[in-house]
Amino acid sequence: MKIEEVKNLIEKDKATVTDLNSLNELRIKYLGKKGIISELNQEIRNVPSEEKKEFGQKVNEARTLFIDFYEQKKEEFETILLNEKLNKEAIDISLPATKIKNGSPNILEKLIEEVEQIMMSMGYDVVDGPEIEEDKFNFEMLNIPKGHPARDAQDTFYIEGEEILLRSQTSPVQVRTMLKGKGEIPIRVICPGKTYRRDDDDATHSHQFMQIEGLLVDKNISLSDLKGTIDIIVKKLFGENIETRFRPSYYQFTEPSVEVDISCFNCKRKGCNICKHTGWITIAGAGIVHPNVLKMSGYDPKIWSGFAFGFGAERMAMLKYDIEDCRVFYHTDLRESKVFDRKEAE
Ligand code: DAH
Repeated sequence: MKIEEVKNLIEKDKATVTDLNSLNELRIKYLGKKGIISELNQEIRNVPSEEKKEFGQKVNEARTLFIDFYEQKKEEFETILLNEKLNKEAIDISLPATKIKNGSPNILEKLIEEVEQIMMSMGYDVVDGPEIEEDKFNFEMLNIPKGHPARDAQDTFYIEGEEILLRSQTSPVQVRTMLKGKGEIPIRVICPGKTYRRDDDDATHSHQFMQIEGLLVDKNISLSDLKGTIDIIVKKLFGENIETRFRPSYYQFTEPSVEVDISCFNCKRKGCNICKHTGWITIAGAGIVHPNVLKMSGYDPKIWSGFAFGFGAERMAMLKYDIEDCRVFYHTDLRESKVFDRKEAE
């Protein structure tokens, strides 16, 4: 085929292109392995040498003619495709959005966060400890040796033999914190966390419950430091006019030990159902850290002294939010949390 004819053919073929596919077919027709222009290129070999240059230039012209057309068309078709796609995928931003339902923090979590804020404002750190605990930390190093009757009061879930258990109190975190302090630095921590006992669940008992443990170890610490600290917590949580009283008690890891009562906010000590007509409500156990406990964890009791306390988180939340059944804390019904949210806002 003469080169001029090829050029004419290209011009004619242009009109047949309607989309990317037909354009691609045309590309194969001219530039494919056996395409018209590719074959012209092969022919150069047979052209007498004085005509080679001119022939070559002409082939190039035909080639450029086709490629210019091809690239321009390709871009055109691709733009059309892209626009079609964009139109199809258009988002209608005038449609009203689906409402996101807000959850509510668990009421226990809320109370714990409040206590954490109060304690942090007094320089306490919030620490954590394992729920699967060793007998050594849960009992022995808290001055409760094997066979001690005090163990019976904390009906414990054992996991492996007699050594690994679900902690029955957060007090083992006291030991762990002192061991980390290596008998050298003062300590100010609280540890809120889950604890477990083999209890039958009812309105005021649960096999899983939460405690908020506190420990301070420093020099010259006395019962009045403990009283002042607890007083601040109670007033911030329950109100300025709430009083605190200590009653003598007994724990193996504190000496002396006390029960912490608060004056009944409901009846102002006149006597009602909540305080069982005593005018007072018990919210914590506490005391001065026993010298044996300090010693076992590497703190010399001749130099160091401290206080500790353990609040029952459910009990405090029940009192603060007027809840009668502790089992609601472990339901996953958001409506219950919402009720407490409303109560708080009132
Ligand atoms: N661990 C005790 C319990 O579960 C509560 C308690 C009492 C914690 C006295 C203390 C404390 O830190 O000093 O019954």
